[in-house]
Amino acid sequence: MQTQRLTDDPQGIATAARLLAAGWPVAIPTETVYGLAADARNGAAVAAVYAAKGRPAFNPLILHVADLTAARALVDLPDEAEALAAAFWPGALTLVAPLRAEAGVASLVTAGLTTAAVRVPTHPVAQAVLRAFGGPLAAPSANASGRVSPTTADHVLDSRAGLGGRIAAVLDGGPCPVGVESTIIGWDGAQPVLMRPGGIATEAIEAVLAAPLRRGPDPDSPRAPGQLASHYAPQAAVRLNADAPRAGEQYIGFGSDGPLSLSPTGDLTEAAARLFDVLRRADDLGQPIAVAPVPDHGLGAAINDRLRRAAAPR
Ligand code: TXA
Ligand code: MG
Repeated sequence: MQTQRLTDDPQGIATAARLLAAGWPVAIPTETVYGLAADARNGAAVAAVYAAKGRPAFNPLILHVADLTAARALVDLPDEAEALAAAFWPGALTLVAPLRAEAGVASLVTAGLTTAAVRVPTHPVAQAVLRAFGGPLAAPSANASGRVSPTTADHVLDSRAGLGGRIAAVLDGGPCPVGVESTIIGWDGAQPVLMRPGGIATEAIEAVLAAPLRRGPDPDSPRAPGQLASHYAPQAAVRLNADAPRAGEQYIGFGSDGPLSLSPTGDLTEAAARLFDVLRRADDLGQPIAVAPVPDHGLGAAINDRLRRAAAPR
Protein backbone atom coordinates (compact mmCIF):
# COMPACT_ATOMS: atom_id res chain seq x y z
CA MET A 1 0.00 0.00 0.00
CA GLN A 2 1.24 3.48 -0.88
CA THR A 3 0.70 5.90 2.03
CA GLN A 4 -0.64 9.23 0.79
CA ARG A 5 0.57 12.48 2.43
CA LEU A 6 -2.38 14.87 2.72
CA THR A 7 -1.98 18.63 3.25
CA ASP A 8 -3.64 20.36 6.20
CA ASP A 9 -5.89 22.53 4.02
CA PRO A 10 -9.67 22.15 3.54
CA GLN A 11 -9.14 19.69 0.69
CA GLY A 12 -6.77 17.46 2.70
CA ILE A 13 -9.09 17.55 5.70
CA ALA A 14 -12.09 16.63 3.51
CA THR A 15 -10.12 13.72 2.01
CA ALA A 16 -9.15 12.49 5.48
CA ALA A 17 -12.78 12.64 6.64
CA ARG A 18 -13.91 10.77 3.51
CA LEU A 19 -11.31 8.00 4.00
CA LEU A 20 -12.29 7.71 7.70
CA ALA A 21 -15.99 7.44 6.81
CA ALA A 22 -15.11 4.68 4.33
CA GLY A 23 -13.43 2.71 7.15
CA TRP A 24 -9.75 3.50 6.45
CA PRO A 25 -7.41 4.44 9.30
CA VAL A 26 -5.74 7.83 8.71
CA ALA A 27 -2.89 9.31 10.75
CA ILE A 28 -3.69 12.82 11.99
CA PRO A 29 -1.75 15.41 13.98
CA THR A 30 -2.75 16.24 17.55
CA GLU A 31 -1.03 18.62 19.96
CA THR A 32 0.63 15.65 21.71
CA VAL A 33 1.68 13.12 19.04
CA TYR A 34 0.28 11.89 15.71
CA GLY A 35 -2.63 9.48 16.18
CA LEU A 36 -3.77 6.69 13.87
CA ALA A 37 -7.47 7.56 13.72
CA ALA A 38 -10.37 5.31 12.77
CA ASP A 39 -14.17 5.46 13.00
CA ALA A 40 -14.76 4.29 16.59
CA ARG A 41 -18.20 2.91 15.69
CA ASN A 42 -16.82 0.69 12.91
CA GLY A 43 -15.30 -2.54 14.29
CA ALA A 44 -13.52 -3.37 11.03
CA ALA A 45 -11.92 0.08 10.88
CA VAL A 46 -10.72 -0.27 14.49
CA ALA A 47 -9.40 -3.75 13.75
CA ALA A 48 -7.40 -2.24 10.87
CA VAL A 49 -5.73 0.13 13.38
CA TYR A 50 -4.62 -2.79 15.57
CA ALA A 51 -3.37 -4.63 12.47
CA ALA A 52 -1.40 -1.68 11.05
CA LYS A 53 0.33 -1.06 14.39
CA GLY A 54 0.80 -4.74 15.29
CA ARG A 55 -0.87 -3.77 18.58
CA PRO A 56 -1.99 -6.47 21.05
CA ALA A 57 -5.82 -6.54 21.09
CA PHE A 58 -5.93 -6.29 24.90
CA ASN A 59 -4.58 -2.74 24.77
CA PRO A 60 -7.54 -0.32 24.46
CA LEU A 61 -7.61 2.91 22.44
CA ILE A 62 -8.39 6.54 23.32
CA LEU A 63 -11.60 8.05 21.92
CA HIS A 64 -11.16 11.53 20.44
CA VAL A 65 -14.13 13.87 20.23
CA ALA A 66 -14.61 17.53 19.25
CA ASP A 67 -16.02 18.82 22.54
CA LEU A 68 -17.25 18.08 26.04
CA THR A 69 -20.84 17.42 24.90
CA ALA A 70 -19.62 14.70 22.57
CA ALA A 71 -17.51 13.22 25.39
CA ARG A 72 -20.53 13.12 27.72
CA ALA A 73 -22.41 11.10 25.09
CA LEU A 74 -19.75 8.37 25.32
CA VAL A 75 -18.86 8.21 29.01
CA ASP A 76 -20.38 9.02 32.37
CA LEU A 77 -17.99 11.68 33.71
CA PRO A 78 -17.76 11.87 37.54
CA ASP A 79 -17.81 15.37 39.09
CA GLU A 80 -14.03 15.47 39.41
CA ALA A 81 -13.68 14.53 35.75
CA GLU A 82 -16.03 17.38 34.82
CA ALA A 83 -13.81 19.75 36.79
CA LEU A 84 -10.69 18.50 35.01
CA ALA A 85 -12.41 18.73 31.63
CA ALA A 86 -13.42 22.33 32.37
CA ALA A 87 -9.82 23.15 33.28
CA PHE A 88 -7.88 21.30 30.58
CA TRP A 89 -10.11 20.52 27.57
CA PRO A 90 -9.44 20.92 24.78
CA GLY A 91 -5.94 19.68 25.56
CA ALA A 92 -3.49 16.95 26.45
CA LEU A 93 -5.63 15.23 29.11
CA THR A 94 -7.35 11.84 28.78
CA LEU A 95 -10.10 10.83 31.22
CA VAL A 96 -11.05 7.20 31.87
CA ALA A 97 -14.70 6.83 32.90
CA PRO A 98 -17.56 4.31 32.65
CA LEU A 99 -18.63 3.70 29.05
CA ARG A 100 -22.29 4.47 28.34
CA ALA A 101 -24.38 1.57 27.10
CA GLU A 102 -25.68 3.71 24.22
CA ALA A 103 -22.22 5.01 23.19
CA GLY A 104 -22.22 2.85 20.08
CA VAL A 105 -18.47 2.31 20.18
CA ALA A 106 -16.97 -0.91 18.74
CA SER A 107 -16.01 -3.23 21.62
CA LEU A 108 -12.47 -3.53 20.21
CA VAL A 109 -11.90 0.16 21.13
CA THR A 110 -12.13 -0.59 24.86
CA ALA A 111 -10.73 -4.13 24.52
CA GLY A 112 -13.87 -5.29 26.32
CA LEU A 113 -13.42 -3.02 29.40
CA THR A 114 -16.44 -1.31 30.99
CA THR A 115 -14.56 2.00 30.97
CA ALA A 116 -13.35 4.09 28.05
CA ALA A 117 -10.57 6.65 27.68
CA VAL A 118 -11.71 9.95 26.12
CA ARG A 119 -10.06 13.21 25.19
CA VAL A 120 -10.80 16.45 23.33
CA PRO A 121 -7.70 17.47 21.37
CA THR A 122 -6.92 21.15 20.91
CA HIS A 123 -4.90 20.86 17.68
CA PRO A 124 -6.78 22.81 14.98
CA VAL A 125 -6.26 20.09 12.37
CA ALA A 126 -7.52 17.35 14.72
CA GLN A 127 -10.50 19.56 15.54
CA ALA A 128 -11.19 20.15 11.83
CA VAL A 129 -11.04 16.42 11.06
CA LEU A 130 -13.35 15.56 13.99
CA ARG A 131 -15.88 18.15 12.86
CA ALA A 132 -15.69 17.12 9.18
CA PHE A 133 -16.01 13.44 10.12
CA GLY A 134 -18.79 14.11 12.63
CA GLY A 135 -18.22 11.28 15.12
CA PRO A 136 -15.79 9.80 17.64
CA LEU A 137 -12.37 8.72 16.38
CA ALA A 138 -10.40 6.00 18.13
CA ALA A 139 -6.71 6.86 17.86
CA PRO A 140 -3.60 5.33 19.39
CA SER A 141 -0.24 6.91 18.66
CA ALA A 142 0.62 6.38 14.96
CA ASN A 143 3.75 4.25 15.48
CA ALA A 144 4.40 0.54 15.13
CA SER A 145 3.45 -1.08 18.45
CA GLY A 146 6.19 -0.65 21.08
CA ARG A 147 8.20 1.86 19.03
CA VAL A 148 8.85 5.55 19.60
CA SER A 149 5.75 7.77 19.16
CA PRO A 150 5.61 10.06 16.09
CA THR A 151 5.69 13.86 16.37
CA THR A 152 5.98 14.61 12.62
CA ALA A 153 4.40 13.20 9.46
CA ASP A 154 7.87 11.96 8.46
CA HIS A 155 7.99 9.88 11.66
CA VAL A 156 4.61 8.37 10.72
CA LEU A 157 5.84 7.59 7.20
CA ASP A 158 9.08 5.98 8.43
CA SER A 159 8.92 2.32 7.44
CA ARG A 160 10.79 1.01 10.52
CA ALA A 161 9.22 2.60 13.64
CA GLY A 162 6.33 4.17 11.73
CA LEU A 163 3.51 3.02 9.48
CA GLY A 164 4.69 3.94 5.97
CA GLY A 165 3.19 1.46 3.49
CA ARG A 166 0.76 0.15 6.12
CA ILE A 167 -1.90 2.88 6.16
CA ALA A 168 -3.83 4.77 3.49
CA ALA A 169 -2.83 8.31 4.46
CA VAL A 170 -1.18 10.73 6.87
CA LEU A 171 -2.48 14.27 7.23
CA ASP A 172 0.62 16.48 7.57
CA GLY A 173 0.04 19.21 10.16
CA GLY A 174 3.69 19.88 10.96
CA PRO A 175 5.45 19.01 14.22
CA CYS A 176 3.30 18.34 17.31
CA PRO A 177 3.68 21.25 19.77
CA VAL A 178 3.56 19.26 23.05
CA GLY A 179 5.51 16.21 21.90
CA VAL A 180 4.57 13.67 24.60
CA GLU A 181 1.26 11.82 24.89
CA SER A 182 -1.67 13.00 26.98
CA THR A 183 -1.80 12.62 30.75
CA ILE A 184 -4.26 9.82 31.62
CA ILE A 185 -6.43 10.11 34.75
CA GLY A 186 -8.84 7.42 35.94
CA TRP A 187 -10.73 6.67 39.15
CA ASP A 188 -10.46 3.75 41.51
CA GLY A 189 -13.77 4.15 43.30
CA ALA A 190 -13.67 7.77 44.42
CA GLN A 191 -9.86 7.99 44.29
CA PRO A 192 -8.34 9.76 41.25
CA VAL A 193 -5.37 7.86 39.82
CA LEU A 194 -2.56 9.02 37.53
CA MET A 195 -2.46 6.24 34.93
CA ARG A 196 0.14 7.87 32.66
CA PRO A 197 2.10 11.10 33.17
CA GLY A 198 1.90 13.24 30.03
CA GLY A 199 1.46 16.62 28.42
CA ILE A 200 -0.46 18.20 31.32
CA ALA A 201 1.74 18.39 34.43
CA THR A 202 0.56 16.30 37.38
CA GLU A 203 0.98 19.33 39.65
CA ALA A 204 -1.56 21.30 37.57
CA ILE A 205 -4.10 18.47 37.85
CA GLU A 206 -3.59 18.17 41.61
CA ALA A 207 -4.12 21.92 41.91
CA VAL A 208 -7.57 21.61 40.30
CA LEU A 209 -8.50 18.55 42.38
CA ALA A 210 -7.06 20.21 45.50
CA ALA A 211 -5.80 16.74 46.47
CA PRO A 212 -2.86 14.50 45.63
CA LEU A 213 -3.30 11.92 42.87
CA ARG A 214 -2.52 8.33 43.65
CA ARG A 215 0.42 7.38 41.44
CA GLY A 216 -0.09 4.47 39.13
CA PRO A 217 0.20 2.22 37.41
CA ASP A 218 2.01 -0.17 39.64
CA PRO A 219 4.54 -1.56 37.13
CA ASP A 220 3.59 -5.09 38.20
CA SER A 221 -0.13 -4.66 37.52
CA PRO A 222 -0.56 -1.93 34.93
CA ARG A 223 -3.78 0.08 35.25
CA ALA A 224 -3.35 1.47 31.75
CA PRO A 225 -2.82 -1.76 29.84
CA GLY A 226 -0.51 -0.01 27.34
CA GLN A 227 1.97 0.79 30.09
CA LEU A 228 4.17 -2.17 29.25
CA ALA A 229 7.67 -1.71 30.67
CA SER A 230 9.54 -1.72 27.37
CA HIS A 231 7.36 0.75 25.47
CA TYR A 232 8.89 3.49 23.27
CA ALA A 233 11.86 1.26 22.51
CA PRO A 234 14.58 2.46 20.18
CA GLN A 235 16.83 -0.23 18.65
CA ALA A 236 19.89 0.91 20.60
CA ALA A 237 20.66 0.36 24.29
CA VAL A 238 19.79 3.41 26.43
CA ARG A 239 21.68 4.49 29.61
CA LEU A 240 19.93 7.04 31.82
CA ASN A 241 21.15 9.75 34.25
CA ALA A 242 24.46 9.98 32.44
CA ASP A 243 26.45 13.10 33.31
CA ALA A 244 28.67 12.54 30.28
CA PRO A 245 28.92 10.05 27.39
CA ARG A 246 31.29 7.10 27.54
CA ALA A 247 33.39 6.13 24.51
CA GLY A 248 31.16 5.09 21.61
CA GLU A 249 27.93 6.53 23.07
CA GLN A 250 25.65 9.12 21.50
CA TYR A 251 24.79 11.73 24.12
CA ILE A 252 21.30 13.19 24.60
CA GLY A 253 21.91 16.30 26.69
CA PHE A 254 19.66 18.51 28.80
CA GLY A 255 20.74 22.03 29.71
CA SER A 256 23.82 21.68 27.50
CA ASP A 257 24.60 22.21 23.82
CA GLY A 258 25.05 19.43 21.31
CA PRO A 259 23.32 18.06 18.21
CA LEU A 260 21.06 15.78 20.31
CA SER A 261 20.35 18.16 23.19
CA LEU A 262 16.73 18.01 24.44
CA SER A 263 16.99 21.66 25.45
CA PRO A 264 20.22 23.66 25.60
CA THR A 265 18.61 26.04 28.14
CA GLY A 266 17.15 23.24 30.30
CA ASP A 267 13.51 24.04 29.38
CA LEU A 268 11.20 21.07 30.08
CA THR A 269 8.50 22.16 27.62
CA GLU A 270 11.06 22.37 24.81
CA ALA A 271 12.55 19.03 25.90
CA ALA A 272 9.15 17.30 25.76
CA ALA A 273 8.48 18.67 22.28
CA ARG A 274 11.87 17.41 21.04
CA LEU A 275 12.06 14.08 22.93
CA PHE A 276 10.79 11.56 20.38
CA ASP A 277 12.54 13.21 17.43
CA VAL A 278 15.85 13.27 19.33
CA LEU A 279 15.41 9.59 20.35
CA ARG A 280 14.79 8.63 16.72
CA ARG A 281 17.77 10.62 15.47
CA ALA A 282 20.04 9.14 18.13
CA ASP A 283 18.80 5.67 17.29
CA ASP A 284 19.49 6.20 13.57
CA LEU A 285 23.17 6.69 14.40
CA GLY A 286 23.33 3.01 15.37
CA GLN A 287 25.29 3.37 18.64
CA PRO A 288 24.37 3.04 22.33
CA ILE A 289 22.61 6.10 23.74
CA ALA A 290 23.38 7.93 27.02
CA VAL A 291 20.87 10.46 28.34
CA ALA A 292 21.52 13.35 30.74
CA PRO A 293 19.48 13.57 33.97
CA VAL A 294 16.17 15.40 33.50
CA PRO A 295 14.41 16.99 36.52
CA ASP A 296 11.26 15.10 37.52
CA HIS A 297 8.84 18.01 38.02
CA GLY A 298 6.29 19.39 35.52
CA LEU A 299 6.65 17.80 32.07
CA GLY A 300 9.86 16.19 33.34
CA ALA A 301 7.75 13.41 34.89
CA ALA A 302 6.37 12.45 31.46
CA ILE A 303 9.82 12.75 29.85
CA ASN A 304 11.41 10.51 32.50
CA ASP A 305 8.56 7.99 32.18
CA ARG A 306 9.20 7.69 28.42
CA LEU A 307 12.99 7.53 28.94
CA ARG A 308 12.67 4.74 31.55
CA ARG A 309 10.56 2.73 29.10
CA ALA A 310 13.06 3.38 26.30
CA ALA A 311 15.82 2.07 28.58
CA ALA A 312 13.88 -0.93 29.96
CA PRO A 313 15.21 -4.43 29.22
CA ARG A 314 13.43 -6.08 26.27
O1 TXA B 1 -1.77 11.93 23.43
C1 TXA B 1 -2.30 10.83 23.31
O2 TXA B 1 -2.94 10.29 24.23
C2 TXA B 1 -2.18 10.12 21.96
C3 TXA B 1 -2.88 10.96 20.91
C4 TXA B 1 -2.94 10.30 19.57
O3 TXA B 1 -4.16 11.29 21.37
N1 TXA B 1 -2.69 8.80 22.00
C5 TXA B 1 -2.08 7.80 22.67
O4 TXA B 1 -2.68 6.57 22.54
O5 TXA B 1 -1.08 7.94 23.32
P1 TXA B 1 -1.99 5.19 22.91
O6 TXA B 1 -2.87 4.14 22.38
O7 TXA B 1 -0.61 5.16 22.42
O8 TXA B 1 -2.09 5.14 24.46
C6 TXA B 1 -3.36 4.99 25.07
C7 TXA B 1 -3.22 4.54 26.47
C8 TXA B 1 -2.74 3.11 26.58
O9 TXA B 1 -1.79 3.03 27.62
C9 TXA B 1 -4.03 2.36 26.94
O10 TXA B 1 -3.77 1.19 27.64
C10 TXA B 1 -4.74 3.41 27.79
O11 TXA B 1 -4.51 4.60 27.09
N2 TXA B 1 -6.19 3.17 27.88
C11 TXA B 1 -7.11 3.25 26.91
N3 TXA B 1 -8.33 2.93 27.36
C12 TXA B 1 -8.19 2.64 28.67
C13 TXA B 1 -9.09 2.24 29.71
N4 TXA B 1 -10.38 2.06 29.50
N5 TXA B 1 -8.58 2.04 30.94
C14 TXA B 1 -7.26 2.22 31.17
N6 TXA B 1 -6.37 2.60 30.23
C15 TXA B 1 -6.82 2.80 29.01
MG1 MG C 1 1.38 4.75 22.08
